[in-house]
Amino acid sequence: MKSRVKDLSLAEQGRLKLEWAMKHMPVLMRLREEGRDKRPLAGLRIGAVLHVTKETGVLMMALKDSGAEEVVLAASNPLSTQDDVAAALVEYGIRVYAWRGQSSEEYYWCIRQVAESRPDVVLDDGGDLHAMLHSEYKKLGGEITGGTEETTTGVIRLKSLEREGLLLYPVVAVNNAYTKFLFDNRFGTGQSTFDGIMRATNILVAGKNVVVAGYGWVGKGIALRARGLGARRVIVTEVDPIRALEAVFDGFEVMPMSEAAGIGDIFVTATGNKAVIRREHFEKMKDGAILANAGHFNVEVWIPDLESLSVGKRVIRENVTEYTLRDGRKLYLLAEGRLVNLVAAEGHPSEVMDMSFANQYLAVKYLHENKGRLEKKVYNPPRELDEMVARLKLETMGIRIDELTPEQVEYLKSWSYGT
Ligand code: NAI
Repeated sequence: MKSRVKDLSLAEQGRLKLEWAMKHMPVLMRLREEGRDKRPLAGLRIGAVLHVTKETGVLMMALKDSGAEEVVLAASNPLSTQDDVAAALVEYGIRVYAWRGQSSEEYYWCIRQVAESRPDVVLDDGGDLHAMLHSEYKKLGGEITGGTEETTTGVIRLKSLEREGLLLYPVVAVNNAYTKFLFDNRFGTGQSTFDGIMRATNILVAGKNVVVAGYGWVGKGIALRARGLGARRVIVTEVDPIRALEAVFDGFEVMPMSEAAGIGDIFVTATGNKAVIRREHFEKMKDGAILANAGHFNVEVWIPDLESLSVGKRVIRENVTEYTLRDGRKLYLLAEGRLVNLVAAEGHPSEVMDMSFANQYLAVKYLHENKGRLEKKVYNPPRELDEMVARLKLETMGIRIDELTPEQVEYLKSWSYGT
């Protein structure tokens, strides 16, 4: 079947969104221009499972314009698809299987369409496509030139395949590019998570107690923005002593979730782990507490416990589900516990995705150019490509930096200079 999206008549609105994103993604647009000229991906079949947003749209167009024979796209989350963008991409000649509000069966059916399109190179966000190509579609997995992975959770899953000796193709962990995680995970998620919380609830963050679970790159960004929005207290919970210490020195309160549970007005999980907020925590929460998740899967706020503690449940606003507990307290779960920034808002700002997706583009090109030369391993993006993205980004922002003098190069190379 050639594409399945919600409504093709939304294409015009989607085109405008894509136009807006292009205006704010100068690095990727430069790679696209170059790609149009040199067609480095000529003949390549590409399969992608990514959040179907306007920024992903620009990446898909860049890959197609660089000569890819076919680009097939499915959503990496059942609720994150922008239906107008999906329609516009179909019009552009991309095969798209995505619509907002998929059931779990529909979600996997769409990913299957990508696997069955026999891609040479695959792009994934979260690892569901990679997992499918290593189980149900192992045979097709064995034919793949290489893959990329966008997010921390997906990289963890791929590393586990690598450890068990099961990885079927080389993978570039795009998430591990400095120009990705330092910016996308931190500043992108930091801002867009609050964008999602505010669009869903319209609450005032100033004066509230915000609890952030996990002080990784995503958690750091969320805590920083909570402070910037005037939160009264920003509390971090962690399991890693080094990151906990870092949070303390960054000026945040650190305590276990069991203590934070009774203090928070807004909770945001960003751990990539499961059941970070569970029964014992819900039991202590204040009436009206808001629960949001920014981690990849909807397992961080443990919904089965919330359901079993509740006597009533209703959708009170779009993306806000009210749970009434036995003692009458109400807890509000945003975006069904899925990535709040992508479900209740539009995901990261385009300026940030410009770098993440420039890295994706360069990783696809790298895998194609190095076909047959790479091992079945998870690779970090080559440093030169990472630096190239940073240089291009600075250039498009009109910012210049210093260069090492020959004496400085020499000095940094030598062990013989002392005081
Ligand atoms: P990270 O590995 O840098 O940080 C995760 C942190 O959570 C670690 O410091 C870890 O010690 C901590 N943690 C683990 N279990 C915990 C627990 N039970 N309680 C408290 N802390 C705990 O990962 P990163 O890059 O910050 O990503 C976090 C999640 O966010 C991943 O699932 C990732 O895929 C996702 N992500 C989501 C984005 C979005 O757009 N919403 C964007 C980028 C990443």
